[in-house]
Amino acid sequence: MAPVIRVDQIDRYESQQVRIHGWVYNRTHKGKLVFLLVRDGHGFVQCVAFKNDLDADLFDQITRLPQETSVIVTGEVRRDPRAPGVPGGYELGVTDLVILQPAAEDYPLALKEHGVDFVMEHRHLWLRMPSQWAILRVRAALIAAMREWLDNNGYINMDTPILTPAACEGTTTLFETPYFDEGVAYLTQSGQLYNEANIFAFSKVYSFGPTFRAEKSKTRRHLTEFWMVEPEIAFCDLEQLMEIEEQFVSHIVKRVLERCPAELASLGRDTSQLAKVAPPFPRISYDQAVEMLKEIRDQTQDLEQKELLSLEWGSDFGSPHETELTSKFDKPVFIYGYPTQVKAFYMEPWPGRPEVCKSVDLLAPEGYGEVIGGSERISNPDLLLKRLHEHDLPQEAFQWYIDLRRFGSVPHAGFGMGIERTVSWICGIKHIRETIPFPRTINRVYP
Ligand code: 4AD
Ligand code: MG
Repeated sequence: MAPVIRVDQIDRYESQQVRIHGWVYNRTHKGKLVFLLVRDGHGFVQCVAFKNDLDADLFDQITRLPQETSVIVTGEVRRDPRAPGVPGGYELGVTDLVILQPAAEDYPLALKEHGVDFVMEHRHLWLRMPSQWAILRVRAALIAAMREWLDNNGYINMDTPILTPAACEGTTTLFETPYFDEGVAYLTQSGQLYNEANIFAFSKVYSFGPTFRAEKSKTRRHLTEFWMVEPEIAFCDLEQLMEIEEQFVSHIVKRVLERCPAELASLGRDTSQLAKVAPPFPRISYDQAVEMLKEIRDQTQDLEQKELLSLEWGSDFGSPHETELTSKFDKPVFIYGYPTQVKAFYMEPWPGRPEVCKSVDLLAPEGYGEVIGGSERISNPDLLLKRLHEHDLPQEAFQWYIDLRRFGSVPHAGFGMGIERTVSWICGIKHIRETIPFPRTINRVYP
């Protein structure tokens, strides 16, 4: 029997008989020919059924196959540069076809335009469409690339807990759950605090897992459940952290460009922008960024834009500010030294300027904004305790975290990269909800 092959490897089988396990994505009928576009999970391939080659009954069935019908197609691999589907142009001349299940005729995602709400309701089926298939393959390639870089550079993967007793990134976005006799637990906002414990045993670590924020904001960039990779490094300062981040991000972008050219092309991504992503990335202090924004604001005639860009020293940037700042560069940009008051409790103060902290965000170009947040961490136990009190955080829940600064404290730093925001940027898509198989937002937990 002919071997079952993967569509993305079809070029290895030219002129050979093969089988494909898949689903009918599209069908067109021209006289004695039926063109089936079949997807097998690895790619899309055109299968051409010719009336004279097939049993009359089977050919008749093929002319009526509903979209999504599951099939085993047998045929000969032929080269045809015009064939849609496989890059390079290969198709199958059908010699046999087995129908596993004819799909029900009322497939909701028939090949026409659908509204966003409708496709979100049908996310379980939307995943099958070429755009979603391409985005999620980029996501997988990105995750593989990020692990590759970390694993090859001495970082040990540590899985951090999802149920936690304390807030890492502020108490306003916590998801709470009842927890036996302990009262309540929270879904983790970040694995960072545990990674800080892990570095004292392993020096360089990373966690990768789902993180949760009960974000009230309904934006293109916020999910309530998102995946974050969080490297943490002992004996590391802010400057070294930026060097690590730019190496890390450049590696990921390079690998995705190598591994997913067809996916990016099918999404219409202009990859010339991504090809420029290489160290060093520009470094701008928060103070400089505020000055730059002031100049931009003074120069603009557009009153609405002027209003959007208004900003006092000490407040955080919103997405209009980030977009303006990054539009000046064609690489990701570091903004470091944010005001202490807009950042988390654990950040090391700037020497001689306690109103500023040793934080750094990485903003992606083309208007994508913050993809990474990181900082040098407070290494002094007394200062840490003071900060916990200032932020009204319960000392008992953080006792173990303070302990880390009592037994061999060292300067250390780390960062968290949001997978979905990074995939949005690399794929060039506007809304983060398409970058995870089943997105969770403020108004959606279905399907
Ligand atoms: O800047 P954040 O809040 O930093 C932390 O959580 C640190 N504890 C990380 C660390 O230093 N280990 O979040 C980091 C990144 C953001 O830059 C963004 O990419 C992503 O996580 N992120 C979100 N992505 C989607 N939806 C949300 N609601 C997100 N909130 C943060
Ligand atoms: Mg942040």
